[in-house]
Amino acid sequence: MAEMPPVRLLLLSLLFTLVIATARDSVGNHDDDDGAALLAFKVGIRRGGSSGPLRSWNSSTSFCSWEGVTCGGGSGRVVALDLSSHGLAGMLPAAIGNLTSLRTLNLSFNWFHGGIPASLGRLHRLQTLDLSYNSLSGTLPDNMSLCTGMTALVLGSNNLGGLIPSSLGDTLTNLKKVSLTNNSLTGAVPASLANLSFLQHLDLSINQLEGSIPPGLRGLRSISHIDLSANGFSGALPSSLYNLSLLRSLQVEGNTLQGSIPADIGDRLPAMEKLVLSRNRFSGAIPHSVTNLSSLTALRLGWNQFSGHVPRTLGRSQDLRYLELAGNKLEADNSRGWEFMDSLANCTQLQYLALDNNSFRGQLPGSVVNLSTSLEKFFIGYNNISGEIPSDISNLAGLKVLQVANTSVSGAIPESIGKLANLVMFFMFNNALSGLVPPSVGNLTRLNWILAYNNNLEGPIPASLGKLKDLNILDMSKNRLNGSIPREIFKLSSLSIQLDLSYNSLSGPLPSEVGSLTNLNWLVLSGNQLRGRIPESISSCTVLEYLLLHNNSFEGSIPTNLKNIKGLTTVSLSMNKLSGTIPDAFDGIATLKELYLAQNNLTGPIPAMNGSKETVSCVVEYISFTWLHVPPYTLVKEDMVLFTDAPWMMRVQLQVWP
Ligand SMILES: *[C@@H]1O[C@H](CO)[C@@H](O)[C@H](O)[C@H]1NC(C)=O
Ligand SMILES: *[C@@H]1O[C@H](CO)[C@@H](O)[C@H](O)[C@H]1NC(C)=O
Ligand SMILES: *[C@@H]1O[C@H](CO)[C@@H](O)[C@H](O)[C@H]1NC(C)=O
Ligand SMILES: *[C@@H]1O[C@H](CO)[C@@H](O)[C@H](O)[C@H]1NC(C)=O
Ligand SMILES: *[C@@H]1O[C@H](CO)[C@@H](O)[C@H](O)[C@H]1NC(C)=O
Ligand SMILES: *[C@@H]1O[C@H](CO)[C@@H](O)[C@H](O)[C@H]1NC(C)=O
Ligand SMILES: *[C@@H]1O[C@H](CO)[C@@H](O)[C@H](O)[C@H]1NC(C)=O
Ligand SMILES: *[C@@H]1O[C@H](CO)[C@@H](O)[C@H](O)[C@H]1NC(C)=O
Ligand SMILES: *[C@@H]1O[C@H](CO)[C@@H](O)[C@H](O)[C@H]1NC(C)=O
Ligand SMILES: *[C@@H]1O[C@H](CO)[C@@H](O)[C@H](O)[C@H]1NC(C)=O
Ligand SMILES: *[C@@H]1O[C@H](CO)[C@@H](O)[C@H](O)[C@H]1NC(C)=O
Ligand SMILES: *[C@@H]1O[C@H](CO)[C@@H](O)[C@H](O)[C@H]1NC(C)=O
Repeated sequence: MAEMPPVRLLLLSLLFTLVIATARDSVGNHDDDDGAALLAFKVGIRRGGSSGPLRSWNSSTSFCSWEGVTCGGGSGRVVALDLSSHGLAGMLPAAIGNLTSLRTLNLSFNWFHGGIPASLGRLHRLQTLDLSYNSLSGTLPDNMSLCTGMTALVLGSNNLGGLIPSSLGDTLTNLKKVSLTNNSLTGAVPASLANLSFLQHLDLSINQLEGSIPPGLRGLRSISHIDLSANGFSGALPSSLYNLSLLRSLQVEGNTLQGSIPADIGDRLPAMEKLVLSRNRFSGAIPHSVTNLSSLTALRLGWNQFSGHVPRTLGRSQDLRYLELAGNKLEADNSRGWEFMDSLANCTQLQYLALDNNSFRGQLPGSVVNLSTSLEKFFIGYNNISGEIPSDISNLAGLKVLQVANTSVSGAIPESIGKLANLVMFFMFNNALSGLVPPSVGNLTRLNWILAYNNNLEGPIPASLGKLKDLNILDMSKNRLNGSIPREIFKLSSLSIQLDLSYNSLSGPLPSEVGSLTNLNWLVLSGNQLRGRIPESISSCTVLEYLLLHNNSFEGSIPTNLKNIKGLTTVSLSMNKLSGTIPDAFDGIATLKELYLAQNNLTGPIPAMNGSKETVSCVVEYISFTWLHVPPYTLVKEDMVLFTDAPWMMRVQLQVWP
């Protein structure tokens, strides 16, 4: 290089710097705006900012390489900000509206709160806005309707309120997807939404929207998914909805809609996969043409007022997985109406079948055993059906929930039931079942609940039930079971909710193993012929709330250590042969509300319940006064007494016995 005087060199380098700086300014003007806007966004972040996922947002690199930021080809402008699931919390600053080249803004699954800034309206190029699963509140800004290029507006699972701005439908005509589910939006669906002729997906479920569904929605010519569930919509579904021939799912569950399904639905909605009208006030017959909906996977019409027969060839919809017809007035009897069950055998992927709570009568059709082996949940109770449970029910090897409750079904529980190895819940209460409880039930080791109360089951309780290591509830009360209660049952520490064997003819002592029921809330053995002492070990059942042993032949004294069971609310020991004094056992059980001791041979004073006077309001009924020292009391009402030294007893029903 040729020598240059130092001054000229200095000048040149100054000039060079100047040129560079000017160039930056003219080309990168917006860069700086975008950078500043991003930094303003970062300043608003209260959690997950500098130390977290936005660590890379620092001056060591260009913002185009910052986490979640995408810049557009030549422009150097931010075109996408995607920070979904980054654990960010804070408010959205107005400066976000300065990112005017943004096409995608996805901040879903974070903890943003506060309002949606109206400055979003400046994002004229925005196509995708996803702010779902945050805690945003306030209303949908009207200015959003200025984002005319928007194709996806996804704001579900926030706390947004107010009306859906009518302007959305007037200007955002490119929208393909709108999801505002799970917010607190109010008011009606704006009629202008009908302008959205490219809309494919509309989800307004779980809000407080009301009014009728605008007939104009027929304008949604491209729509394939509509979900209006869980709102306050009323009136009839406009007939024009059934003209939206691309519709693949229509869900309006949980409103107060009425009217009937048009007879020609099967011809008008040929693409329908998911039709969910549950929990409304729809009525009329289920039209035969639904069997022409050959792509149907879910038909849920439950908890309405549908009547008449179920279409006999329903099984033509061979892809049905979910069929819910429960809670209607659907009919069948021995001569007609059950054909649909035969045809359902063709639905080889059926997983869920709810027919309960209808007006089905007659024999339980034998064809139930031909249903799919994929069937997991089958409900047919609360119908006036009779007949027996077919032995081949064991074909339904996938069953997890079997509900045949509140019917007139009789006969024995088939031994083959033991093959339903996946069964978790077994609801057979309020029937006329008789015979022995098959020991094979003990093979159903996944069972959580057995509810078989109020039948005519007889014989002993099989000891094999002791193999049900996941059992939470065993209720076989109100049967004719006899013999002693197998010790194995009491060793099931999984029993956490309820063990109810009351009102049978069970005899023998209560084994000391009862103390293994350390997780049990309800122990109900009343109305049997159990005898002997109430074992002291019962105090190991530390989470018992209900202890009902009345109407047996228990003798000896009341175990004094009952007071170790701190959460007892109801204790009923009446109608036994218990003797001795009422122990101070109940002292200190602050939760005790009801204590029944009548018709025993208890003596001595009523304990004072020291230490719990304030919190306990005990209802003690039917005290047998013959052998009881009556403490000083004041008669409050005919059957109400206030004991001077036992003020915890609020209500006492006096009954002199014998
Ligand atoms: C956003 O743009 C406005 C108007 O152009 C400007 O006044 C403001 O400073 C910008 N904010 C940020 C943080 O860049
Ligand atoms: C700045 O960002 C870079 C990544 O772009 C990162 O490696 C660096 O640790 C960051 N610096 C600070 C001080 O967080
Ligand atoms: C936003 O990002 C999440 C996570 O990547 C993605 O599942 C979701 O589809 C995106 N939202 C939109 C509207 O594309
Ligand atoms: C909202 O849009 C109006 C024009 O319709 C504009 O005057 C106003 O400044 C916008 N608000 C914000 C916060 O950008
Ligand atoms: C509704 O939103 C809340 C809060 O974002 C969320 O916890 C809940 O899972 C959402 N419910 C549904 C059904 O998406
Ligand atoms: C949008 O819908 C409303 C109400 O149906 C109507 O008055 C308006 O003319 C429509 N706008 C456009 C641009 O189609
Ligand atoms: C539905 O479409 C049919 C023709 O396919 C038409 O005759 C009828 O008027 C339309 N109904 C509504 C309510 O738009
Ligand atoms: C089912 O569709 C066929 C062909 O379109 C039609 O002939 C038949 O009447 C339809 N069946 C019912 C029950 O609507
Ligand atoms: C069930 O499928 C069989 C064989 O594919 C067919 O013969 C029968 O008609 C079908 N039944 C119904 C109700 O679709
Ligand atoms: C059956 O359904 C009716 C209304 O559909 C309801 O009132 C009733 O409580 C239901 N019965 C049961 C047992 O669920
Ligand atoms: C089922 O239970 C019965 C009676 O308890 C027993 O004889 C049989 O071997 C068991 N079957 C299986 C597969 O465990
Ligand atoms: C009640 O107990 C007393 C002794 O405390 C005894 O004399 C009396 O016979 C017993 N009565 C009955 C009915 O068991």
